[in-house]
Amino acid sequence: MEYRFLGRSGLKVSELSFGSWVTFGNQVDVDAAAESMSAAYEAGVNFFDNAEVYAGGRSEEVMGAALKKLGWRRSSYLVSTKLYWGLAKGPNEENTLNRKRLIEGTNGSLKRFGLDYVDLIFCHRPDATTPIEETVWAMHNIIEWGKALYWGTSEWSAAEIIAAIEIAEKHHLHKPVMEQPQYNLLVREKFEKEYARLFKDYGYGSTTWSPLASGLLTGKYNNGIPKDSRGALKGYEWLHDGLTNAESIARVKALQPVAEGLGCTLAQMAIAWCLKNPNVSTVITGASRVSQVHENLKAAEVATKLTPEVMARIDAIMGNNPNQ
Ligand SMILES: NC(=O)c1ccc[n+]([C@@H]2O[C@H](COP(=O)([O-])OP(=O)(O)OC[C@H]3O[C@@H](n4cnc5c(N)ncnc54)[C@H](OP(=O)(O)O)[C@@H]3O)[C@@H](O)[C@H]2O)c1
Repeated sequence: MEYRFLGRSGLKVSELSFGSWVTFGNQVDVDAAAESMSAAYEAGVNFFDNAEVYAGGRSEEVMGAALKKLGWRRSSYLVSTKLYWGLAKGPNEENTLNRKRLIEGTNGSLKRFGLDYVDLIFCHRPDATTPIEETVWAMHNIIEWGKALYWGTSEWSAAEIIAAIEIAEKHHLHKPVMEQPQYNLLVREKFEKEYARLFKDYGYGSTTWSPLASGLLTGKYNNGIPKDSRGALKGYEWLHDGLTNAESIARVKALQPVAEGLGCTLAQMAIAWCLKNPNVSTVITGASRVSQVHENLKAAEVATKLTPEVMARIDAIMGNNPNQ
């Protein structure tokens, strides 16, 4: 496993990391979580991603209990959480990055994890109703109080991120250092174009999500929605359109021979493709079972096989011209 700096910070993150969205607290209990986390950790993964809203808070409880069971040195791994949507209804309890929500949210997450601090904390979405200055001050305080070590954004616009960085610089506050955006073979535009200046001029880090587009890029949805897949889960019906999109499926089918030529699975090739972008600090993988963890973490070896010729072939299939 290679380790990359999280942007211009001094923090090293494994290039492949492991997240708990959908899985922990829904498909995966504490024992299965510990099994998958252990497989990832043994392969060199040092970053485990989470959010307060995953499984309504249960995902943090499951990960916290798994960490307790695993008993790893606290200094050997990184844990994150993300705040925005909240866990209760109320004017200051949902859909906000105001000071009250961020501080109460952080305290709630730490309690559910059973941790003294998280390593990374993200503002899970932008909030157009709270001044960015208020959010930056609150995140700065959370770091000053030792409740989190680094803070970042998720799915903010480049303009919002730059505004936050500049406010922090003006007041000598802790700056956000990383963004958590979606990035995969089907969704690449924002990361590659809108964020280009963030990476070049500001050295912003990135922890990218859904490298397999929720599993679509494994080829498992080529003939409909399998019963034991994310697409069949209650509450995730909103994923159906994307997972059964005819154009996407046709492209996935066309990618299959490329993966076969490399001697790897489609999942490994899709994850490896994300790793080829040097602006990616870490690719957050997801898995509902340990066999997927073993398969997906081999993607790091596959990345070395993605020559410029192979990358061009993949671009041609996906209909993406990165230079346009
Ligand atoms: N910041 C944000 O807004 C945001 C949003 C989404 C995710 N994230 C983070 O990113 C992490 C990864 O996202 P993701 O879970 O959507 O990643 P993903 O890699 O796109 O999808 C993972 C899912 O695909 C299936 N899968 C994985 N490997 C497979 C394999 N080798 N063969 C067959 N199926 C396989 C599994 O689902 P089934 O087995 O159930 O089909 C697994 O749970 C999340 O856990 C979370 O930490 C962040």
